[in-house]
This record gives sequence, C-alpha cells and structure tokens, in this order.
Amino acid sequence: MTEEQARIRAEELRNIISENNRLYYVENSPKISDYDYDMLMNELIAIEKRFPVLATPDSPTMKVGSDLATGHDTRAGIKEFRQFPHRYPMLSLGNTYDISEVEEFVSRASRLAGRDFTFSCELKFDGTAICLTYRGGKLFRALTRGDGTIGDDVTVNVRHIRNIPQELKGSGFPDEFEIRGEIYMPYEAFDRLNGERERNEDPPFANPRNAASGSLKLLDPKEVGHRGLECTLYHMLGENLPFSTHDEALRAASAWGLPVSDKRKVCRNIGEIEEYIGYWDKERKFLPFATDGIVIKVNELELQRQLGYTSKFPRWATAYKFKAEQALTQVLSIDYQVGRTGAVTPVANLEPVQLAGTSVKRATLHNSDQMQMLDIRVGDHVYVEKGGEIIPKITGVELSMRTGSEVRPVFPVRCPDCGAVLVRDEGEAKFFCPNTSGCPTQIKGKLVHFVSRKAMNVLAGDATIEQLYNLGLVRTPADFYSLTREDLLRLDGWKERSAARFLESLAASREVSFEHVLYALGIRYVGESTAKELAGHFKDIDSLMSASREDLLQAEDIGEVIADSVTSFFADPGNREQVERLRKAGLRFSIQGNAGQVTDIFKGMTMVVSGVFSVPRDKIKKLITDNGGKCSSSISGKTAFLIAGEKPGPEKVQKATASGVRIISEEDFMQMLPQEGTAKAPDHMPADSDGQMLLFGQEEIRQE
Ligand code: IVH
Repeated sequence: MTEEQARIRAEELRNIISENNRLYYVENSPKISDYDYDMLMNELIAIEKRFPVLATPDSPTMKVGSDLATGHDTRAGIKEFRQFPHRYPMLSLGNTYDISEVEEFVSRASRLAGRDFTFSCELKFDGTAICLTYRGGKLFRALTRGDGTIGDDVTVNVRHIRNIPQELKGSGFPDEFEIRGEIYMPYEAFDRLNGERERNEDPPFANPRNAASGSLKLLDPKEVGHRGLECTLYHMLGENLPFSTHDEALRAASAWGLPVSDKRKVCRNIGEIEEYIGYWDKERKFLPFATDGIVIKVNELELQRQLGYTSKFPRWATAYKFKAEQALTQVLSIDYQVGRTGAVTPVANLEPVQLAGTSVKRATLHNSDQMQMLDIRVGDHVYVEKGGEIIPKITGVELSMRTGSEVRPVFPVRCPDCGAVLVRDEGEAKFFCPNTSGCPTQIKGKLVHFVSRKAMNVLAGDATIEQLYNLGLVRTPADFYSLTREDLLRLDGWKERSAARFLESLAASREVSFEHVLYALGIRYVGESTAKELAGHFKDIDSLMSASREDLLQAEDIGEVIADSVTSFFADPGNREQVERLRKAGLRFSIQGNAGQVTDIFKGMTMVVSGVFSVPRDKIKKLITDNGGKCSSSISGKTAFLIAGEKPGPEKVQKATASGVRIISEEDFMQMLPQEGTAKAPDHMPADSDGQMLLFGQEEIRQE
C-alpha cells in the first residue's frame, strides 16, 4: 500500500467509523455488527501505525464515541439534558477477539510489575455506561459517558432504576466518590418492551443495549422506571480512597448496597484468566442479560497507576470480546426487497429460532454475490448471526444436512415491485431498480425518508405515507407542502385534530436547518454527517448545486464516491426542479444563525462569569457564546459552571457551592475550549504524542 492509497483508505475508514459511532451512540440504531466495527477500527489503527504522518488527533482511534444528543434530536423529541464535565475522563476499553492479545496484555503488565499481582476478571455487560456520584452517602448525580469529557445529566431518570440506591447503607463510605458501571436491559424486559412497541407501530429496538441507552434518555422519568432497566457497577474513583485493590473497592461498594456483579473473579495468571473466559463463553447463553465479552483488569491500584492511560483506554485493563452467537435453522423462502434507493436485498424467511435472547424469523442475504458464495438453497439449514441491525445475517450453510430436495433460488431479473429490468452498475454489489421516479416502493421509501425524524421530522409514519401515495396526493417531497386540511381529512381515521397536528409539524419543518434539509433530499451516500459537512462547506444549495467534482473533493471527508453521487443528483433536471419547489415552499437552503459560532460544545449550558481574568471578561463571554453556550449574570439550578477569575463575587461563590454548581478557573475553562487544529474539539481527550493523558481541567488525570 502506498502512502497515497493509505491516505484515501484512512479517510474512508474515518468517515465510515464516525458515521457508525453516531448511529451507535446517538441514534441507538447501529447498522453494522460490533465485530465488523472492530475490524474497521483495527484496519485504521494498522494504517495509522504504519504511516504515522496520517494519524490525526481527531481520528476515531484517538477518542471515544459521543452519545451527546444534537440540537436536532432535541427538537425531534429527545430530551435535552443539562451537561456536566466529568471529573475524570470517561474512557473506553481496548478490545480484542484474539486470546493471544490477552496473553500479551498479561505479559506487559507482569514485565512492568516485577512482583506478584492479580487480575480482576469480570463480565463485560452490554449496556450503556453511567457515572454515579455519591455525596454524603446520597446519590448526587448521574452522568452518561457523553463524549468522555462532558456527559448528559440523567440523574432524574436514574433515580427510577430499581437497583440503584438513593442512599448508601452501612458506614465508612467516603464523603464523595464516583462509581461507574453499566445500565442494561435484561432480555425479559427487552422482549416486553419490543412487544409493546410493535403493537403501537413504533420501531422496535435492535438489541437490549440500544433499548437501554434509548430508555435512559427518555423525557419521562416514570416511563424510565417502567422499562425494567438494571445497573451493575464496576469502577470506583475518588480522592484518597482507602483501598489497595479494585476488588476491595467493589466489595466495599457492595456492602454499601451498590449493585456489583457476583460473577467477578480474582485470577492470578493467564491460565486462570483463560479458564474464566472459557467458562463464560459457554455459560453466557444462560444469563438473563447480554454480555459481549470479558474485562480483565489489573487488580492492584498502585500498579494501575503505574500503567496509566492512553488518550482512549486504560493500560491496566482490556476486553476480550466473544464472537457473535450463532443459531442453526432452516430457510423457508426468500423475498427480494426493494429499498428507498432502489437497491434489491434478498431476505430469507426462516423457521423461527432463538438467538441471543430473541426469536429470529428473517435474515438478510445482502446481495446476489453473497447468495452465490454461500450457494444457498431454499430448504437449506443455515447459520444465523446477529449484526448491528434488527435483521440478522446468514453466515453459512450446513451442507451435511442437505437432503437433495432443496431448491436453488433465482435472483429476479425484474423489479418485484414495478417490473423494471434490474441493473447492476460496475463496482456495485447490489442490483438496482432503475425506475427511480416511477417505482412505487422507491417513491414511498424516499417520502418516508424525507419526513423522518433526522430529516424534516414531519409527523407521518409509513402508514400515512402509504395512504397519501395511494390517494395520489403525494408523489414527491414538495407535494407535502401543498396538502390541505381537506386532503388530509380524506385519510382513513383522520379527524380535525390529526390533520391540524400534521399541518403544524409540516409548518415547523420549514425551520429545519439546511444540513437536515440536505439529508432529507435522499442523495445517495449523503448520510447525516456528510450532509452536515456539505452544508458547512458550501453554505447554500446554489453553491452546492454548481459545485464541480473537484470543488466537492475539496470539502473535508468528501471522497470520490460521494462527489460523483452529488454531481449526478444535481445533474438530473427532476431533482433540480424538486429543490426549486421546496425552496418555494419555504424550506431552508442555506446555513444561517450564529455566524461566529465555532463549535457547539457548550450547547445547552448556561455559565456565569465572575471576577477578574487575564483577558477582558467579554472575551470569556464571547468564547462561551461562540461555542454554543449562554451567559447569565446569576446562578441558578440550571447553571452549568461558575467561571471564577480572581476575586469572584462572594455571593456567587456561595450560591454556586450551595446549589452544587461546579466552580472552575479561567485555566479550567480554557482547557475545555477546542484546541487549535482540531475541527470539532473537544470530542477527543487531550493527549500527548505518546497518547499519555495531559491535563484535564486543572487536575491531573488521576491514575487510580
Ligand atoms: S471497566 C476505564 N468493566 O465496556 C475503563 N467496563 O467497551 C473502565 N463495560 O466503556 C471500564 N462491562 O462501558 C469495565 N466489567 C466492566 C464492563 C465495562 C461493560 C463497558 C464500559 C466500557 C465499555 C468498553
């Protein structure tokens, strides 16, 4: 691989990984399996290692994914939480599927230790990370991981989780400490929730992890209580904690009434670790909740301190991940589904089978090449595996179970929906229906995409679109904006109230920002982050429409495939006409608002500035607003920080202390700002070239 090839591939991988981070952490709707994600990340790590000049500080290899909601999520009904900085960065874990890498981890720790020490082996709970702070024995605050530096304050919701104590029992707990763990949804609660969602025609959650993290961010804390979430805690942090091992700390936590797993084991060597892994690789299938691996931690806290951290992981812990579970079942038939882009996907209908806690009835075969590679036949017994998506995939055929009566499937020549002859472009894995403007499935798919939550966020589900289409009322996105109350009253079951609500949401969609409108247009390969990138770079639709391939390639993270797709979209007169009609309907086709805004890292935060600073106070205020925050002159329960210079107002300090508002110095504040040369800072951890942690706020990262 030449350096140029590596640069192109690294860029492509960063794009794919960032988009999948967003799908996983923000949307709770991953599109690829953890395994496939880990393989992409490994490929990028390998490239950056081989070509160090290609490593960038904001590469996904250097930072943890962010679960912080965006402004659009908030508008779309997801609760906007107050955000607080983490006292200690909330990192992720290095992981491997390869036992020899666990052996290397153990040897490395042993070399450094030069004395006897132990490991704590634990289940890796597959949920969403949480950081609880207890003050004076009472639950004070619960933060999500967020971007690792700042988390969402979900305390009100966490108070409704059954096994999290509001108050500790016993005695001897430090006046203040943090304990981190995982909020997860046991299979039983997950099945109940998805059953309910299906009955209400809400989209089901792909897996218990997504259900847990989606539920934790609900608007209504009582509803959170009904979701059956549970918590397990696995990492205590604080100043001068009186423990010498991790195990001791967790035992104490358990004695104070905190939920700690009883499946932990202290192991002395790699033999015992491998035995633990082997045991749980089999037994995990019988656990009532999802686990995706084993975490191995150095147990002695002093040794943990010596090993320290990289920008993303502790060097004193690692995770061994289990390969996805498989199930064997029979193929009953194969359907060919047409998607919004016209891509035809073969999907197998299966004899229902239990897999990772749920019953599986359908599995994807991806494309005709995959079908050929598997040489799959109707009637075959096949292995199914869960990926990130709701629909699992077929990974192999059990040839020894063939009877001879199996039937070889024939991939259709024509679109199963409109009958157009399918095409397959060079380099494409899939067959496509070319009838983009006439194939009903494609038209409806595009309309559904246009109104979806991440796009225009109009109150219309699949069923409404189906009716609007069948009545001939809507054929293109612009048609939505000509709908009248009378038109809507023709829909089955629609009354004045539903029509009014729909029209209101349509009116509100005129306020949707350019990047979301761009995403809503449904240009192939232009997902949410690409739309954001394009909107930010070109500023308005006219510049984008007139951009050449070369102009597009100038934008960050835009490669040849996307550039070609965008130019061919706007080369189509039909698409240009759509844009004009939507523009006439009043949609936003340019970025607007806070022109000076540099980032949105302080979005949703209100800060109070008090005292004398090394720069004019207005400069501090401008930095807050430039980065999406608000300034206020008085402290309230809603204040995120008091930024105190020299001689701050004593009442402000007093009020901040009383209401638990964190007081930070000018230096702390400056550290939170994006560092030069990072596009979207601070969603990476400050790290030196060796990956060692630098300062976080004014406090050195504690290596507990
Ligand atoms: S320890 C500093 N222990 O897995 C690292 N993490 O993929 C502290 N997880 O970020 C993490 N079970 O959210 C730890 N027994 C366990 C865990 C665990 C699940 C999660 C955690 C972590 C992620 C990494």
